[in-house]
Amino acid sequence: MRVAPQLFREVAGHFATGVCVVTAEDPDTGPHGMTLNSLTTVSADPATLLICLNRASTTHEVVARAGRFGVNILAAGQQDVAALFATRDDDKFRDLDWTRSPSGTPLLTGGVAHLECAVLHRHDVHSHTVVIGEVITAAAAGGPPLVFHRSRMSAPFPG
Ligand SMILES: Cc1cc2nc3c(=O)[nH]c(=O)nc-3n(C[C@H](O)[C@H](O)[C@H](O)COP(=O)(O)O)c2cc1C
Repeated sequence: MRVAPQLFREVAGHFATGVCVVTAEDPDTGPHGMTLNSLTTVSADPATLLICLNRASTTHEVVARAGRFGVNILAAGQQDVAALFATRDDDKFRDLDWTRSPSGTPLLTGGVAHLECAVLHRHDVHSHTVVIGEVITAAAAGGPPLVFHRSRMSAPFPG
């Protein structure tokens, strides 16, 4: 017996998460990124996290090529950034403020925090790849985060 995908999405959506944009640089096509909420910390020492990337996404390919990625945790009020990075546009960065870290990872400005990771392991599970990253830099600006709950984005509590 299997749970239907629609029921699974509806029930799992009761688990509130933050919203981030995972970014990476392709040497040929430039910066790329996608909105993501499948972020989980794995261990603190060494600092390790995981993300789940759909293998049909462009970002999956760019992260695989780069071997590193950025995690940009969005602030309350950045719903437009979350919506932009949930599209398949080839140039999502053109109207945004962003920087490139010394190791070459694109980082968005205006979020509550960002981390840079080096890919440690990858596990293919059905349509997705679980990417485990070792954290190489981390910085927080603070402030209220953007929250995703039951298919809606909001800012229900102060940071
Ligand atoms: C709130 C939210 C969370 C998302 N979380 C994920 C996720 O964890 N993993 C994933 O593969 N896609 C996730 N997506 C979907 C991607 O953002 C979307 O497929 C995007 O268009 C991929 O862009 P790309 O093909 O340019 O990489 C999420 C979308 C939204 C709106």
